[in-house]
Amino acid sequence: MKKVLILGATSSIAKAIAEDLAGQGTGLFLAGRDSFELERMAADLRIRYGIQTYFGQVDAEDFVNHASFIKKVIGTLGGIDGVVFAIGHLGEQPQDSHDGETARRIVAINFTSAVTLLAPVANVLEGQKHGFILGLSSVAGDRARQSNYVYGAAKGGLSLYLQGLRNRLDRHGVQVFTLKLGFVDTPMTYGKKGLFWVASPERVGMLACRTLQKPAGVYYIPRFWRIIMLIIRLVPERVFKKLSL
Ligand SMILES: NC(=O)c1ccc[n+]([C@@H]2O[C@H](COP(=O)([O-])OP(=O)(O)OC[C@H]3O[C@@H](n4cnc5c(N)ncnc54)[C@H](OP(=O)(O)O)[C@@H]3O)[C@@H](O)[C@H]2O)c1
Repeated sequence: MKKVLILGATSSIAKAIAEDLAGQGTGLFLAGRDSFELERMAADLRIRYGIQTYFGQVDAEDFVNHASFIKKVIGTLGGIDGVVFAIGHLGEQPQDSHDGETARRIVAINFTSAVTLLAPVANVLEGQKHGFILGLSSVAGDRARQSNYVYGAAKGGLSLYLQGLRNRLDRHGVQVFTLKLGFVDTPMTYGKKGLFWVASPERVGMLACRTLQKPAGVYYIPRFWRIIMLIIRLVPERVFKKLSL
């Protein structure tokens, strides 16, 4: 039985990913903040799919304990074949952009925690010469807009970090996937204005799992976001800075 850790397992998208992996008979360690929900999910998936499930609490900002948390997870699972990083926090721009402390938290949750949590997993996967890392990044990280550049900068950092991991780990048989998601209908985007072509978390979760059958790399989900972001990246800076995006 394969063994996968899901960080941010209570995320709506991660729940769909967990469902898909459980359906394939994968053993799961569900990690997040909400232990009641994690326990409920673990019991539900165990009963419905007959898989081994575990759960544990981790706070994205508790950096100093991340390495020991990962060690504990791998010990509990009895090994690890992959990790899904789904932790994320959108925040509330424009307030965030004017408040250094709130902005720091957004960067910490979306970016720094990925580094402190994934680094110890990467070392283990590198040593055993197999496994995968699947990171949920965002199209917001492709070009910073005035309406969400703090989150966008953190996700851009995450995409680059995953790119570096891919470059390091590919030769060791470890696959690193960067998923650049467009708008998804989850608690994160609930009530936000200006969203369009919003995908369901179930569909995104299914597409995310399908990506694991492909070569390691960068994938836009849904796929049409690749074209949209190509166009957005091509807009000259002198024009872009005049847009109220
Ligand atoms: N929804 C979108 O449109 C969209 C677009 C692009 C990328 N994404 C990315 O997709 C991923 C999943 O997001 P989602 O849309 O499914 O949103 P969500 O349902 O709000 O999930 C966010 C997840 O992050 C966790 N989290 C937040 N702060 C945390 C902290 N300090 N410590 C530990 N966990 C923390 C949440 O845990 P709690 O349950 O404890 O709050 C939850 O599991 C995120 O990385 C997000 O940035 C989403």
